[in-house]
Amino acid sequence: AQDVRTASLGIMKAWAFYSPSMAWFAAAGTCLVLWVGGRSVLEGKMAVGELVAFLLYVGMFYEPVSRLHSLNQLIQAGRAAGERVFAILDAEPEPGHIPAAGLRPLPSRQDSSRQVIFRNIHFSYRTGKEVLHGIDLTIPSGTSLALVGPTGAGKTTLASLVARFHDPTSGEVLLDGVPLPRISLPELRREVGVVTQEPFLFQATIRENLELGKPGASDMEIETVLRAACAFDFVQALSEGWNSKVGERGVRLSAGERQRLSIARALLKDPPVLVLDEATASVDTATEKQIQQALDHLLAGRTSIVVAHRLSTVRKADRIAVVEAGRIIEIGKHDELIKKGGLYAKLWSIQSEHAELHTIEDLFTAS
Ligand SMILES: Nc1ncnc2c1ncn2[C@@H]1O[C@H](COP(=O)(O)OP(=O)(O)OP(=O)(O)O)[C@@H](O)[C@H]1O
Ligand SMILES: [Mg+2]
Repeated sequence: AQDVRTASLGIMKAWAFYSPSMAWFAAAGTCLVLWVGGRSVLEGKMAVGELVAFLLYVGMFYEPVSRLHSLNQLIQAGRAAGERVFAILDAEPEPGHIPAAGLRPLPSRQDSSRQVIFRNIHFSYRTGKEVLHGIDLTIPSGTSLALVGPTGAGKTTLASLVARFHDPTSGEVLLDGVPLPRISLPELRREVGVVTQEPFLFQATIRENLELGKPGASDMEIETVLRAACAFDFVQALSEGWNSKVGERGVRLSAGERQRLSIARALLKDPPVLVLDEATASVDTATEKQIQQALDHLLAGRTSIVVAHRLSTVRKADRIAVVEAGRIIEIGKHDELIKKGGLYAKLWSIQSEHAELHTIEDLFTAS
């Protein structure tokens, strides 16, 4: 940030110097011509018309010069931007991404999913204090685990470790018994699918956005996942169907529509392990139903870690872990947790009294 500040200050200083000095030279030139020319006219050596013509020539001379000057500015700005882009393109993966002990192939899969284990995970972001304080979790192959807890508890952080968006400060995450750092990144990307809280769509056609999940997917496959994600009808209604452009310069999609497209993308990718950070944006009941149905299709038969905000998602999960301040304070099936009478049971008792509360956040706020 300091560098950016210095650089932009530098540009502004140069600009502040160049542009008045250009104007100054232009004005001085005109004055000089007027001074010398005016005297010649008075002395009768030159006609007034000649002086006027001369003044026009001076103007014509300065115009391209000042244009050259702004061109130079454009080039400078472009070069600076280019340097930044190439710096990113040339960036080496973080040293932590190169395993000290060598890569290990994942065992061949028994079924369409894999087991995930968190072993004594501690985590802090580079800048801050510890966010996760010793997490131990086993998610059996093909089952779903819902993470619930108040905002800032560390749910997103915990879930993102599976995709190696970060590495734990200590402890390890294992996929079918293989520690994540020993799995090559391309293989890990194939194994773990991610649907984030704020679904991201590129400025491209719907089809191109979906194909990120599986390059070269057939029309048939695209249609199947759009249907499974309850997105087929609204896509069909667009003027160019799935060849319509989305994003800032394309069709505007609602939060619920974007979410279903990102679910369709994950379905197309069909990864054995899925990390889902459920969106918090509120949608109407009909959309809610469609998203729920889309999620059911997405989660079926997969190992999944779901940061859950909807009560219906939590209710359907195989197991629920209540996360509070970086620790798992309760874990179990819905019925077990209700019987236990802890925080989870308390949340549901609030819900039964207040039907208007629809999200986990509402319940934590009310408790
Ligand atoms: N990139 C980051 N850098 C530094 N601290 C972060 C970063 N992301 C999150 N945190 C901090 O880590 C803690 C856990 O954040 P996290 O996003 O995992 O919470 P959460 O349980 O997902 O909350 P929410 O329900 O609001 O999404 C918070 O105190 C947050 O401020
Ligand atoms: Mg979160």
